[in-house]
Amino acid sequence: MATASLPVSVPVTGESPRSVLTAADVAVYRHQGFLHTPGILTTAEAEDLRGRFLIATGKAQNLAGDSGPTMFDQFVNLWQQTDPTLLDLALHPRMRAAALSLAGEPLRVWHDHLLVKRAKNGVPTEWHQDQPYWPHANSAGALSAWVALVDVPQIRGCMSYIPGSHRHTGLDAQNLGDATDLFRRCPELQWQTSITVPVKAGDVVWHHARTAHRAEANRSDTDRVVVSVIYMPQTTTYTGAPHICTEGRNYQVGALLTGDAFPAL
Ligand code: SIN
Ligand code: NI
Repeated sequence: MATASLPVSVPVTGESPRSVLTAADVAVYRHQGFLHTPGILTTAEAEDLRGRFLIATGKAQNLAGDSGPTMFDQFVNLWQQTDPTLLDLALHPRMRAAALSLAGEPLRVWHDHLLVKRAKNGVPTEWHQDQPYWPHANSAGALSAWVALVDVPQIRGCMSYIPGSHRHTGLDAQNLGDATDLFRRCPELQWQTSITVPVKAGDVVWHHARTAHRAEANRSDTDRVVVSVIYMPQTTTYTGAPHICTEGRNYQVGALLTGDAFPAL
């Protein structure tokens, strides 16, 4: 176990964006719509976070319910539900620096979610873009950080991405359970080569909100434990569409999504 890791629960400021990503990294992200950044967290940090996130699921809402094998168990904003210190991941200095470099504009946390594909779950997460699921306008630079808290080789349900697909705007939300839905809505994408990205614990894969992505089923005998942290530009306004993260918060259509629920970076 590494001993020189940052204690995750202590907020640290001052990590320079340039110390985390190079200009070339940012150019690759802008061109292909995703970027693999190995070792954003140390293995010790990933292990610590895995334990804390899993403990926090105890009294939290699993959006998957509890019937049968599922695509994934999903716990949204455990930092709001049970353990405020879990926001440390979204605001971790290296996460923060990388997210700001990639977006190139001020950001807020839209939400995070723990996504556990159970061992041998047998269900992939099919091709989709994220942006159509969100009640967002003026949010062109929104992006997700897919943070591996265990090693995720191909057999454990790592992600694949279609380079350049982030340039396709205006598609309706795609069905995560249907392998063909994205390609019915955007036929040209079925002719493009996807890239599969196996990752080690502590790695992060960043993807733009409109980059098409999927995750393979978990065929291994170990749970796949990842957290996806989603960042939105500070210009993001509310469209009025229903979403669990705006429910009961009285945002008017057109209002900026600000406030304690959406911490600024
Ligand atoms: C997954 O991890 O299975 C899906 C994550 C995503 O759609 O962003
Ligand atoms: Ni997604």
